[in-house]
Amino acid sequence: MAKIVGSITTSHVPAIGGAIAKGMQNDPYWKPFFDGFPPVRDWLARVKPDVVVLVYNDHGLNFFLDKMPTFAIGAAGEYRNADEGWGIPTVAPFRGDPELSWHLIEQLVAEEFDLTTCQEMVVDHAFTLPMALCWPDQKWPVRTVPVVVNTVQAPLPSAARCYKLGQALARAIASWPGDERVVVMGTGGLSHQLDGTRAGFINKDFDLKFMNSMVEDPAWATKYSITELVELSGTQGVELLNWMVARGTMPERVRKQHANYHLPISNTATGLMVLEPAA
Ligand code: DHB
Ligand code: FE
Repeated sequence: MAKIVGSITTSHVPAIGGAIAKGMQNDPYWKPFFDGFPPVRDWLARVKPDVVVLVYNDHGLNFFLDKMPTFAIGAAGEYRNADEGWGIPTVAPFRGDPELSWHLIEQLVAEEFDLTTCQEMVVDHAFTLPMALCWPDQKWPVRTVPVVVNTVQAPLPSAARCYKLGQALARAIASWPGDERVVVMGTGGLSHQLDGTRAGFINKDFDLKFMNSMVEDPAWATKYSITELVELSGTQGVELLNWMVARGTMPERVRKQHANYHLPISNTATGLMVLEPAA
C-alpha cells in the first residue's frame, strides 16, 4: 500500500519564478522567503518521495472562466508548463503516473467526488514554482499527480468539502497496492487580494491562526463560509482551500516539521509548512 509520508503547503507567487531566474535568492527582499526552503529540501532528502500529489488552483492556463471544473485531476503521462504572460521562464516537463491517477479517480468517483479527468493538461506557476522551490536543479525526481481546485470563479467548493476531498484522497492513496512514498503538496495563499478596492489586503492575524490550525485543529477553517474566508484572507487568499485538501490527506494528529511565514512577497503574505503524521 502506498504511504503518505507528509505534506508541504506553500505560497506560489509568480514573482518567485523571476527571482529564481535572476538568482536573487540572497537579495534582502527575497532572502527571508527563500531561507524557508533548505529545511524542506533536507526533509525531502530524508523521506525520499516517489510521487507528489500536488493540489493547486489553475489561473487560466489550463482552464478558463468558460469551463471551470470545481475539482479536476490529471491522468497524463507528462505535464508541460507554458507561458502565462508573467515573464518567467518555463520549466522542464513533469512525469505523470497515469496508473496511480486512474486508481485515484476510480476511488474518488466511487466516494462521490466526481472530478474532471484530464488526459492532457498544462500546469501553471501554482504547480511549477513550489516544485522548483523543492528541487532547485529542476530535475524532477518524482512522478506527479496534479489535483486542481477551483478557487477562482464563484461558486467555490467549501473548506469543509475540500477537507473531505483530502480525506478521500488519503483513503484512495492508501488503497493503491504499490509501495510508493507519497508527498501531498497544497499551494497558494496565504492572505492576498490582487483586485478591487481591497487590492493589497493582507491579514497576518488570520494567517497565523490558520497555520496554527493546520497543526492543532485541522477542521478549524471549515467553520467559515467561502464569503467569510474571502473577507478574512482576500479574494486570492482563498487559495488556502488547497491547503485544506492537503491537510485532509494527513491524519488528525500531525507533527510540525517546519514552518515559515514572511510578508510581503509581491502582494502576498507567504506561508510554508511541512507536516508529518504523528508517530
Ligand atoms: C500573486 C499571488 C498569486 O497567488 C498569484 O497566483 C498571482 C500573483 C502576487 O502576489 O503577485
Ligand atoms: Fe495564485
